[in-house]
Amino acid sequence: MDDRPIGIFDSGIGGTSIWGEIQELMPYENCIYLADSKYAPYGEKSQERILELSIKNTEYLLNQNCKLIVVACNTATTNAISYLRSNYNLPFIGIEPAIKPAAINTKSKIIGILATKGTLSSSLFHSTTKNHAAGITVLEQRGTGLVEMIENGQLRSKELYRLLESYIKPMLDQGMDYLVLGCTHYPYLIPLLKKMLPEHVTIIDSGEAVARQTKIVLEKNSLLSNATKLGSHQFYTNGDETVLSSKIESTTVKYTVQSKDF
Ligand code: SIN
Repeated sequence: MDDRPIGIFDSGIGGTSIWGEIQELMPYENCIYLADSKYAPYGEKSQERILELSIKNTEYLLNQNCKLIVVACNTATTNAISYLRSNYNLPFIGIEPAIKPAAINTKSKIIGILATKGTLSSSLFHSTTKNHAAGITVLEQRGTGLVEMIENGQLRSKELYRLLESYIKPMLDQGMDYLVLGCTHYPYLIPLLKKMLPEHVTIIDSGEAVARQTKIVLEKNSLLSNATKLGSHQFYTNGDETVLSSKIESTTVKYTVQSKDF
């Protein structure tokens, strides 16, 4: 049994949606969250740069004595997780777009995926699609500009609504009945998406499944905490502290938010 923290990193605030699921499922675990907002978005960067940033974040979390790392960013997962798993001696959990449940359940046989350029062009994404969505039309849409607007706290702006609509409408016109969110920032768009999607279209994101997988891997490696009091949660950002705080302040858990240059 192990009380060291779970480390979580993302290119910014998006992975807080994953952190929320983890702390709900495992309330006694301690967590350290790194928001690498200074370097967001990862989605338009080269694979080499994404790898470099992922290594930087991993080293930081290792220095904080983390027992497992959740790469709470689709772009970093698809471009860096195999390197991280081969080069560091601790378990890594990644976020892959939830293509499989959408492909199993679609009636129209047309699913849409909204993700970054970095995710959509990765080989991991292509093999997942090939393995799980044979016979299904997968409409790929880059969400260029969305991460920046979410990071800047523009969730209620008309510009964001219009940009999102311009990505969603063509997929709707082609008959999609499942929309897969392939970026951990995008769950923050769900209230807007609900306004523009008809009822028969289901939105899928990976948060809950990732939390379940994290628990399974901790159990398998005898790394679960045996604490009997609620965990504490430290958030570090190299961007705007207030934007990060706004994503966690509604929770009742014990947490701190600090600016750091990492
Ligand atoms: C980004 O930084 O561009 C998005 C992160 C993600 O893919 O989850």
